[in-house]
Amino acid sequence: MTIFYYLGNFNNFLRHFILKIAVFVSGRGSNLQAILESRLTKESIEVIAVISNKKQCAAFEIAELNSIPTFTVGNEPESKSYSQLVSILTELKVELIVLAGYLKLIPLDFIKNFKEKIINIHPALLPLYGGKGMYGLNVHKAVFNSGDKFSGPTIHFVNERYDSGTIIAQEKIDISGAKSPDDISDMVLKKEHELLPFVINKFAEGKVIIESNRVKIL
Ligand code: GRF
Repeated sequence: MTIFYYLGNFNNFLRHFILKIAVFVSGRGSNLQAILESRLTKESIEVIAVISNKKQCAAFEIAELNSIPTFTVGNEPESKSYSQLVSILTELKVELIVLAGYLKLIPLDFIKNFKEKIINIHPALLPLYGGKGMYGLNVHKAVFNSGDKFSGPTIHFVNERYDSGTIIAQEKIDISGAKSPDDISDMVLKKEHELLPFVINKFAEGKVIIESNRVKIL
């Protein structure tokens, strides 16, 4: 009887453990929306801040609709510097930083403060079709022109170079029916909206493990 009582309490404790995340965006914010919607089924994450290099972006509207504090970084008026953001996010006790369509390179000094706590989603199967200039439709045009039969999202840890940190998860999809780069974009984006919340929830459950420089999802 006593044992069951304690086990019940422990499960409640686990259920109420909430991972605090910050999301960096630059535009539309459909991945931010997917993260927020995933909270409806699993209340294991809380988006504590949305950060953008652009004051005017649809993603900020999504954040505001959800009463999530927003910050701009970079050159826009009233923007924070990356070192100010380190203090803000540390104070807010952020546990995971998600780059979801953030187009700027994150400075090394910022990264050093959040070791293995910054992840990015890229709309192709890295290490293919990554690097500087490979964002948005540029990626899907390159994939389309190559004639590749498969593409799909990659989620990886962020280092000081574009799209080159250790890979956490990838989802390969058949794009042989695509008639344009836009078709590929739609197909990949649909998968992004599943894979990103899935991976974030695995972080929340403590099921993302790094072993010998490889990432295991339990
Ligand atoms: C996504 O395709 C993501 O993979 C890439 O930028 C796009 C952002 O889309 N890094 P959204 O702003 O989340 O709608």
